[in-house]
Amino acid sequence: MDSAIFSALLASRRSTRDFLPKAVPQDVIDAILTDAMTAPSWSNTRPYMVAVATGDVRDRISTELQRRWAIAGRALRGSWWDKVMFFLKRDGLPTSDYQVWRPYPKDVQPRSQKIGRDLYTHIGVARGDKVGRDEQWARNFDMFGAPVALFVFTHKGLPTYSVSDAGLFMQNLMLSAHARGLGTCAQGALAVWSDPVRKEFNVPKQYKLLCGIAMGYPSKDNVNSFRAERLPIADITIKNR
Ligand SMILES: Cc1cc2nc3c(=O)[nH]c(=O)nc-3n(C[C@H](O)[C@H](O)[C@H](O)COP(=O)(O)O)c2cc1C
Repeated sequence: MDSAIFSALLASRRSTRDFLPKAVPQDVIDAILTDAMTAPSWSNTRPYMVAVATGDVRDRISTELQRRWAIAGRALRGSWWDKVMFFLKRDGLPTSDYQVWRPYPKDVQPRSQKIGRDLYTHIGVARGDKVGRDEQWARNFDMFGAPVALFVFTHKGLPTYSVSDAGLFMQNLMLSAHARGLGTCAQGALAVWSDPVRKEFNVPKQYKLLCGIAMGYPSKDNVNSFRAERLPIADITIKNR
C-alpha cells in the first residue's frame, strides 16, 4: 500500500458538523463496523459495544436530548433561582455514565480554548455571542442532522483499557467512513444523558456510555470546511533527560 495515500486519507479526515438528510444503507454501516473491528484490542477482549440509531429511534433520542438541553441550558444561563429549581426538579440533570464535563487541566486548557475560538470565528459567531454559541452547541443534540447516531459503550470491568480499545475502534470506524465518502463527528455531548439511549436499546448493565458518533453524508455547509489546527509532533514528544 502507498503510504502517501494513507497519510492523505488520515490528514483529510475532519469532523463533520452538518449532514445531508440522506440515509446510509445498512450494508455500508455494516462494512464500516467490520472495518472498525480490525482495531487492536486488549487481549482481544473487545470490551465495547455499539448501539446504531437510525430512523425513528435516532429521532426519538435526538428529540429527548434536545428537550433536556433546552432545560439545562436555560438553567445554566439563568439566575441562581433557576439553577436551584433545576437541581430540585432534576429534569435535565446529566445522567451520564462517565463524568463528561470537568475543568480542563491548565496545561491543555489553551488548546481547548483555541479550538472553540477558531471554530466560532470560522462560522461567524462573534466572541461574547452567547446565543450564537448556544445555538451551535445545541446542534450536537440533533447530531448535526446526521441520519446515523452511533453510541459507544465500554465494559465497566476493564475501565482504562476498555476506553482505550473503544478509542481505537472509533478511530477505525471514522476513517473507514471517511474512505467511503461519509463524514463523522465524535460527540462527547451525546453521552451527557445515557437513559434516553438505554430506553431504546437493550444495553447490558455492565456497559457504560462513553461517546456518540454522528455519521452520514457531509453537506457543503461552511462549518464543514473548518480545519482544526494540528500541533507539531514536538509538542507531544517527551525529551530525553
Ligand atoms: C472523544 C471525543 C469527543 C468529542 N466531542 C465532541 C462534541 O461533543 N461536539 C463536537 O462538535 N465535537 C466533538 N469532538 C470533535 C473534536 O472537537 C475534534 O475531533 C477536534 O477538534 C479535532 O478536529 P478534527 O476532528 O476535525 O480533526 C470530539 C472528539 C472526540 C475524540
